[in-house]
Amino acid sequence: LREHEEFTKVKNIAKIELGRYEIDTWYFSPFPPEYSDSPKLYFCEFCLNFMKRKEQLQRHMRKCDLKHPPGDEIYRSGTLSMFEVDGKKNKVYGQNLCYLAKLFLDHKTLYYDVDLFLFYVLCECDDRGCHMVGYFSKEKHSEESYNLACILTLPPYQRKGYGKFLIAFSYELSKKEGKVGTPERPLSDLGLLSYRGYWTRVLLDILKKHKGNISIKELSDMTAIKPDDILSTLQTLDLIQYRKGQHVICADPKVLDRHLKAAGRGGLEVDVSKLIWTPYK
Ligand code: ACO
Ligand code: ZN
Repeated sequence: LREHEEFTKVKNIAKIELGRYEIDTWYFSPFPPEYSDSPKLYFCEFCLNFMKRKEQLQRHMRKCDLKHPPGDEIYRSGTLSMFEVDGKKNKVYGQNLCYLAKLFLDHKTLYYDVDLFLFYVLCECDDRGCHMVGYFSKEKHSEESYNLACILTLPPYQRKGYGKFLIAFSYELSKKEGKVGTPERPLSDLGLLSYRGYWTRVLLDILKKHKGNISIKELSDMTAIKPDDILSTLQTLDLIQYRKGQHVICADPKVLDRHLKAAGRGGLEVDVSKLIWTPYK
């Protein structure tokens, strides 16, 4: 956490309260001027409206009737649910989510034009409601084949596998669209670590099971991972040779096993049979 704070320019809001957590923020976020001088903001964990005083939040909670993000529940497995929120239909929610997310994202520009995005909000649900653990945003139409614009796991939930779950989910959506996808650049250091981890795990699992030669194109068709990302991942793992002007995958079983051991835990799996979704039109 400290490392991040060093790069922070004029951080305005030091803490937020969200659900049962008080969270220290990491970066500047351009809240409207009347909020930007508050040391702490109080968020409604369901509609993401924010307030300067605890009493205002308490009053709000008595009348707010949301118990989950607005939008459609497109995935449910155990206590984990994913909601798809259309930024055009839920503009205020989309903007609130962007203000909140920017507190933990350094390099991203905040999109005021939330109309153009879908927000995939991951929740842990119990009898009090569905509590957001993280989200990713996705452009409705991307020229550059981006399948994810911004990704965030809220700090109290980080390093538990939710980030890799969100990444896996973004590729499952791309598979349903029949397209390859890639995250919008630049990636943060934590973003790159998470993506590298995901790509490595997915590609090693396929290479381990597959008998005979396989091309980058075939791997891309199976995973919806963009060929450039496959190439760079396999190069990092030293599984690529350049022969007769072509990149060839050399998946020596011993090398694969060594990488698989180092790749760590797989994390939370996306159960595709529980995803009920059709691409945005
Ligand atoms: N230190 C070292 N490695 C880490 C750390 C950390 N603090 N956090 C994550 N990682 C690496 C690990 O390799 C980890 O895998 P492992 O636990 O199996 O070793 C892997 O990343 C993913 O871990 P998850 O638990 O699945 O991910 P998490 O839920 O923590 O979310 C995320 C990752 C979304 C990047 C989170 O750190 C975050 O929200 N950061 C702030 C916002 C951000 O930087 N987002 C990405 C910007 S780029 C973009 O939006 C396109
Ligand atoms: Zn509310």
